Amino acid sequence: MKVVETIDEMRQLRSKLAEPVGFVPTMGYLHDGHLALVKQARAENPSVVVSIFVNPTQFGPQEDFTSYPRDIPRDLTMLEKVKTDVVFMPLVAEMYPSQFNSWVEVSKVTERLEGAVRPGHFRGVTTVVAKLFNIVQPTKAYFGQKDAQQAIVIRKMVTDLNMNLEVVTCPTVREPDGLAMSSRNTYLKPKERQAAVVLYQSLKLAQQLYLEGEKDAGRIRQAMIDLVKKQPLAEKIDYVSIADAETLEELDEIKPPAMVSLAVKIGKPRLIDNVVLE
Ligand code: PAJ
Repeated sequence: MKVVETIDEMRQLRSKLAEPVGFVPTMGYLHDGHLALVKQARAENPSVVVSIFVNPTQFGPQEDFTSYPRDIPRDLTMLEKVKTDVVFMPLVAEMYPSQFNSWVEVSKVTERLEGAVRPGHFRGVTTVVAKLFNIVQPTKAYFGQKDAQQAIVIRKMVTDLNMNLEVVTCPTVREPDGLAMSSRNTYLKPKERQAAVVLYQSLKLAQQLYLEGEKDAGRIRQAMIDLVKKQPLAEKIDYVSIADAETLEELDEIKPPAMVSLAVKIGKPRLIDNVVLE
């Protein structure tokens, strides 16, 4: 496994990699959710590149950029085990030199859900991912369904800007009790960790009501909100949404595929999760 920090070194290595090249962008502090993406990339490509870069431009001024968890030695051990070929860990100063003035922005799908609560977040994500795609030039790039809106936004960017690669979305990896794995779960105190399962429980409830024949999105949203509100450690619900799985427009009546998603603050972190009703 080669570990490179500069864009030049990454480009030089890239020219020697066997095609096709699978790429997994991450912000590090890896868990089994990230590793599932790397394993899928490994299964589908002779070369696998993983990036670790905590991207400052996707964090709001009040968000956790400086305190975002980091553990590079541990990440590298985990990546070595799943047979990564190249780890790219650029420095903020090289990715964003002081005269950096170019941004990639996807409209419409970025205005809802996460985009509505975190202004500027997706502009930071699309800009850094476009830069990483230009540097790594992958054949296929792997994203998690855990961040469903992010995957939709990246797909739209790739289509709209004719980027020459395939976007692959991989299933959400969960803890045994259903909580979606996330680097931010480390912020949860033990009681909050137990309470955090309420996100998954509310998604299961939505699935169950839908399977029982409920098609009214409003009634399902309300049942989810009622369940989350019963959990005293769930401090704030940012949104509970049932939306068209492609456009993310809110639905009155459920027409599959529909994405059920929610964002809830539990203790310090804001947790997000989703399922798709097929
Ligand atoms: P990060 O949060 O580190 O996630 C990297 C990738 O891992 C994303 O595609 C995310 O959806 C996926 N992932 C995280 N938890 C997962 C889980 N439990 N199951 C499956 N996949 C999971 O997302 C980012 O970083 C950044 O926004 C990035 C795309 C790297 C741009 O900076």
